Amino acid sequence: MAEPQYRTPKGTHDVLPEEQRYMTYIKKAVRHRARQAGYKRIDPPMFEDRRIFERGIGEHTDIVEKELFNVSGKSADTEGEKNASFALRPEFTAGICRAYVEHGMQQLPQPVQVFAIGPCFRHDRPQKGRYRQFHQFDLEVIGLKDPSLDAQLIHVITNIFADLRILDRLTLQINNIGTAENRKAYVDALRDFFIGKERQLPELDRSRLKTNPLRLLDSKEEDTQILIKNAPKLTQFLDEESKQFHATLLDYLTTLGIAYVENPGLVRGLDYYTQTVFEFWDQSTGAQNAVGGGGRFDGLIELLGGKPTPGVGFAGGIERIIWHMKEAGVQAPHKDQVDIFVAQLGPEAKKTCLKLIADLREKGIHTVGALGEASLKSQMRLADKFEAKFALLLGKMEVKRETIILRDMAKGQQKEIPFEGIIEKVVELLGEKNLDTYTLRDQFTGPTDD
Ligand code: HAM
Repeated sequence: MAEPQYRTPKGTHDVLPEEQRYMTYIKKAVRHRARQAGYKRIDPPMFEDRRIFERGIGEHTDIVEKELFNVSGKSADTEGEKNASFALRPEFTAGICRAYVEHGMQQLPQPVQVFAIGPCFRHDRPQKGRYRQFHQFDLEVIGLKDPSLDAQLIHVITNIFADLRILDRLTLQINNIGTAENRKAYVDALRDFFIGKERQLPELDRSRLKTNPLRLLDSKEEDTQILIKNAPKLTQFLDEESKQFHATLLDYLTTLGIAYVENPGLVRGLDYYTQTVFEFWDQSTGAQNAVGGGGRFDGLIELLGGKPTPGVGFAGGIERIIWHMKEAGVQAPHKDQVDIFVAQLGPEAKKTCLKLIADLREKGIHTVGALGEASLKSQMRLADKFEAKFALLLGKMEVKRETIILRDMAKGQQKEIPFEGIIEKVVELLGEKNLDTYTLRDQFTGPTDD
């Protein structure tokens, strides 16, 4: 095959139908568990004022320093937005907190619990499990602070992973990084510790020491790791409240039967975190491929112009979850099967089939039809390729005799039967319960399903 002239941009991928099955399955699990726990859906825009990410996530984080996709366009020149500079969202949390402030959500009953699902963008170096456009599901609990909220959030997430049958492949890593003040004191101590040792650090970590020393804790560099072993520990700087909060949270997790690994080295790559931080790691490969992470962000809303408001949240990486499901041999159930393939020959038959196809579909039967001019034989080959359960064949003779041929594709058997009553016959063969009868009307009585 010739090389295609156009390809997806580096680090992006088409979500092809086969992959959509997993996507849909995951979205369903998320929606179901989120609804059960009282979360409502929110969709912040895909791009925002850059400053929301810079201020929220932190100017000296990798995400902001290196990975923000800038958006330029005419809108940046329109009146009132003259100096606006936009970026594609690298995550949901900062945008959701901006929305909380913008829409006065502090007036709502607290905590406000929202969830989001959709693409995020980071201009990272593409590699396995790391893309420039990827999908997250995100859960946020804003407006109240109590370790039971952190525990409940983690419980919802473990339920989602259990539903997707990958929980046993993951470990929950958890830590408490203290308040902003605790961290400041710790960062000062870290800087002091490294005075005179800067030259032993690899270049990247040397600059991190200046801009964001906490990142040295999860550095992948061996030299840094050796030095860090003797550095002061964050736990020594935690205040009593943080320690108590953490102990209570761990106690609640145990009550809920959730296994965890205490990881004092876990700091997370975003600046807004306070106290609780956690990640779900791949048991076999470790942190590099966390399927999700989250924590408390008690200072973020204020940073974005709101009143001091606590929050806790989490985001899972959908591509990484799909990878785990496939590795674990989990099949995503889907409804893409073709029930009936309608084949026809001759203008009269074609017209009759056009109507028949519409009626079958209306009944909730997945129907495809070859309405071209191909021979019946090649239409049957097509029916086979579509893996249709049954085929209906209408040729000139059948039209005249007011019959139709019904073929069981698996058995390779066929018989001629009266055209009248054919839909009822097909329903009987497929089974009433297998019909895809979902209609928009269901929305008035049941949950929506977009
Ligand atoms: P994060 O750890 O930056 O946290 O991202 C969460 C998850 O998104 C990661 O664990 C990973 O599975 C997935 N992910 C991140 N970057 C990529 C990428 N380049 N390619 C594929 N998957 C990726 C957050 O985004 C926070 N907003 C989570 C949060 C919510 N904290 C509080 N509330």
